[in-house]
Amino acid sequence: PIVKELLGLTDLEETLRARFSLRQVVIVPGDCDQSELTKKELGRAGAAALRKYASKGDVVAVAGGSTLAEVAHHLTPSAQMKGSLFVPARGGLGESVELQANSIASTMAKKTGGEYRLLHVPDHLGEEAYVSLMQDPNILEIVEVIRSARIVVHGIGDAMVMARRRKVDQRTIAELTAEGALAEAFGYYFDRSGKVVHKMPTVGLRLEDIQATETVIAVAGGKSKGEAIAAVMKFGHEDVLVIDEAAAVELLHHL
Ligand code: BG6
Repeated sequence: PIVKELLGLTDLEETLRARFSLRQVVIVPGDCDQSELTKKELGRAGAAALRKYASKGDVVAVAGGSTLAEVAHHLTPSAQMKGSLFVPARGGLGESVELQANSIASTMAKKTGGEYRLLHVPDHLGEEAYVSLMQDPNILEIVEVIRSARIVVHGIGDAMVMARRRKVDQRTIAELTAEGALAEAFGYYFDRSGKVVHKMPTVGLRLEDIQATETVIAVAGGKSKGEAIAAVMKFGHEDVLVIDEAAAVELLHHL
């Protein structure tokens, strides 16, 4: 806290909190793009936020990504999270195994002493496959659990970085560009005004579930993500934002 005062981060937290009508903003010093240590600190702060908002018996839906992997890594056994059920927010989104939401949900459960359930759904679902999967009673049951989540924790990415990381095809890349996609979170793509312009076809949380979730926590950092974070904040359904200093400063340019 003393470091934060000296850097003026406490004021910056309040400015951003008020601008985006959030419950809390946490800023860690540094820039994740430049320093692995900052990324770790971001993960630690994300874990602290989750601990703060979790209560006994919660369903916690978690997204994938390297930032969420850091959050998971920093969780520790805690009384209020012992009875939590961790589930992936959405099905396979083309991430490598360690970055998949399923892996992160299971790590979080192991770290906290909670439980987890997995969702085994392949990537790049066509409309037909989607419809038939959603008729499978086992899938349907876990999807209902996911949609009942009281807490959602997710990362935020740059649209093109995420599209490439998920190996989406050239046609989709062209569509995303034409649609003005700038940010990506939980499989949805947002333009600079925070409007959803595209979504990845997979099962799990829908936008309406996110809107109804009691506590949505976003954890993201790095100067390069500033504008993407601003877009997702303008979407307007986030409650808690955990970022680093470089992203926060960049965010100020996109209020
Ligand atoms: C995930 C989100 O949590 O994190 C993605 O589901 C987001 O939507 C991604 O883009 C960011 O990944 P990383 O590795 O930059 O933390």
